[in-house]
Amino acid sequence: MITGKPFLTTEQLRDKVVELAETISRDYAGREVLAIGILKGAFVFFADIIRALKITVTVDFIVASSYIKTSSTGETKIYYDARENIAGRDVLLIDDIIDTGISLNHIREKILSMGPASLKVCVLLDKKERRIVDVPVDYIGFQIPNNFVVGYGLDYENKYRNLPYIATFKKET
Ligand code: IMP
Ligand code: MG
Repeated sequence: MITGKPFLTTEQLRDKVVELAETISRDYAGREVLAIGILKGAFVFFADIIRALKITVTVDFIVASSYIKTSSTGETKIYYDARENIAGRDVLLIDDIIDTGISLNHIREKILSMGPASLKVCVLLDKKERRIVDVPVDYIGFQIPNNFVVGYGLDYENKYRNLPYIATFKKET
């Protein structure tokens, strides 16, 4: 069940997306970026942020999963891989949330092994206290406490992804 008022409102999310996109556009000025969204969770954030970027963007996706219900399995399964050439490209990985860091680390290492010109990581949410693997993250939207959140692409059992805001989720007992 979803508790109380939104944890992050539609407006807060919109403002943060614009702020992040401005920084990224400045950092990559004059360059072309290959933005890779990590599905499913990142699809809403990804769609919003790429439309706010003022640089040339190519898009691709990776479908990965490590979660069952509300806890990480510690294993990252990749169901669909990026099809764009990675070698020599300026790659920006975009994810919804970094929690233990296991899945982003796995994906990051895999992309690095393909020889990109550069690789940066952008996440909307960071649950820092949960980190198990130290992953360098270049752009962070919000640092959040260790609560399970849903909405704006994030799910519980593949539900609530369509909420236009982010809410705290508590399992009914
Ligand atoms: P990590 O490998 O533990 O960092 O897991 C990251 C992935 O777990 C994210 O991309 C999300 O798909 C999922 N995840 C972690 N925390 C939450 C949460 O609070 N709500 C929904 N999904 C989450
Ligand atoms: Mg995810």
